[in-house]
Amino acid sequence: MKDELDAWADELQETIYKEAEADYSREVYQRWRDPKRFGPMENASATGKVRGSCGDSMEIYLKVEKGRVVDSSFFTDGCGPSVSAGSMAADLAMDKDMEALADITGEVILQALGGLPEDSIHCAGLAASALSAAVDAYFRA
Ligand code: FES
Repeated sequence: MKDELDAWADELQETIYKEAEADYSREVYQRWRDPKRFGPMENASATGKVRGSCGDSMEIYLKVEKGRVVDSSFFTDGCGPSVSAGSMAADLAMDKDMEALADITGEVILQALGGLPEDSIHCAGLAASALSAAVDAYFRA
């Protein structure tokens, strides 16, 4: 019974991925399937967590040395596009001075992802807000 259930779940996941591949840019699809920089970071210098109006949350973790981001990661309990957006936000933050992170807006994330469908645009905004919250936390500390 478990094997049948697992096979059904795998098949369902593949169907979702196939639909996503058709509906989203290559960058979004690849980060959705294999998210770079996914997962909480221990001993982060700063963390930002926000919850969107959709109810999903996003966290960005930054490791900072001499005012520069030397490591970053994200975590979200949100949709596939939010996984892609969080991954992109964490990537874009890498090797940047903390002051420069304010330039990473939802629009910048959106463009780097190759766009998102209208009803998923807010997911990029959620990632930008989490990054901004991490920057605020860093400068407040
Ligand atoms: Fe909530 Fe995408 S729908 S973050």
